[in-house]
Amino acid sequence: MKPQPPITRREFLTTTSATLLLAAQLPGRAATEPAAKLARDGGEKAVPVAMPRPKRWGERELAQLGEAVQQPSLYYWRNQQTKLLTQRFQQYYPHEFVQPCSSGSAALHIAVGAAGVAPGDEVITTSVTDIGTVIGVLYQNAVPVFADLLPDTYNPDPADVERKITPRTKAIIVVHLMGNPARLAELKEIADRHNLILIEDCCQAWGARYRGQPITMHGQMSCFSHQDSKHIACGDGGLVTTSDPKLGPLLIKYGDKAVNRLHPADSSNVLAPNYRITELQAAFVAAQLTRLEEIASKRSQLGALLTAELADIPMIQPQRVEAQDRCVHWGYMCRFVPEQARCDRAQFVQALAAEGAPFSAGYIPVPLYGLPMFQNHSFFAGHWPIKEAGLTTMDYRKVHLPVTEAILKTCMRFPLNEGMDEDYIRLITKAVRKVARHYAV
Ligand SMILES: Cc1ncc(COP(=O)(O)O)c(C=O)c1O
Repeated sequence: MKPQPPITRREFLTTTSATLLLAAQLPGRAATEPAAKLARDGGEKAVPVAMPRPKRWGERELAQLGEAVQQPSLYYWRNQQTKLLTQRFQQYYPHEFVQPCSSGSAALHIAVGAAGVAPGDEVITTSVTDIGTVIGVLYQNAVPVFADLLPDTYNPDPADVERKITPRTKAIIVVHLMGNPARLAELKEIADRHNLILIEDCCQAWGARYRGQPITMHGQMSCFSHQDSKHIACGDGGLVTTSDPKLGPLLIKYGDKAVNRLHPADSSNVLAPNYRITELQAAFVAAQLTRLEEIASKRSQLGALLTAELADIPMIQPQRVEAQDRCVHWGYMCRFVPEQARCDRAQFVQALAAEGAPFSAGYIPVPLYGLPMFQNHSFFAGHWPIKEAGLTTMDYRKVHLPVTEAILKTCMRFPLNEGMDEDYIRLITKAVRKVARHYAV
């Protein structure tokens, strides 16, 4: 073996100080080394650059809007932009029936209407989500029943979903929270065994993949949002899709004032809102869809990097993504582990913000069942007609879901986006390590 040359003083100093620097950044290691001074206390910022933001729209959207403006009509039905949107959507999600509409909440209401959810029926879902998940359920005079979450994926706990099934249950709405695919195979098996309709709320999950396949392949209907903050956006808009030949024609009917444009004789025997999209929105979304793969893969890759980088910090528990799944991180969510810290979540997040790492504490302030309208059963001008009529005994004041509540008390969010790169994510990691080192127990 070739003898190693003796190490020079300069090399010794360089390697030792690099090791010490690394050790000082790692929580729980080399505890005797002084931690770097926090930016909050006058130290140097770990992230000295502004948060990158993507340029979300440009020439492609302008060109598509230009085409729409040449048309004599901007009405969605059988017009060019809605057709293009539908075709592009179907390249990702191979479903025969696609109903673009005015919002994600509208898409979910259409799905619940098409599922035949009637007054007093129960729909099981989760309560860490946007209120839009259940608006349609409530407007159909049905009852949202909340199941608990899994502590590490923040998605529905299939066992608790099954426990919540009663003879009144009609459907399950599964939310893929933060773009992380839920346990679709198990939920579908439960739904089938109990003859329930499974609806996927994909509003936060454009481009997510479950066991290598796009989400939407297990639910009978799947709903998307084009609201401004979503991966694919046009300010506001939505879409509902199905491959079921019985449900397909109902999507049009429930999204378009009960007019079944495919089978006009079947029109007007139910009440349905005007949830139509316009050709301008459709043009914009059609152009946006050409960016989907790039956005989804970038977010997924950056999120996976952040998770890997945070993995050895005891005070942080990243969101678990199953090995074969693709989480598209509509925001990066993780949990703070208070037992591992000499500070609370608010102090931790404030210290991170001072370092230039824009984390925020929490997501929605309370689970949906904790909102005043649920606690007071006051959905309709102070009333909940189905409760007053004895069609439900639901009392949201008695609902307590331990995992759900623990997640909301400990979660933190980082506004991950496709404009960031690996170097920026590593700077963020550096900030988290620095603050974690400072507060390590
Ligand atoms: C999980 C989830 N479901 C439903 C919705 C409702 O979508 P929209 O805001 O387009 O009505 C949203 C939007 O924030 C959402 O994140």
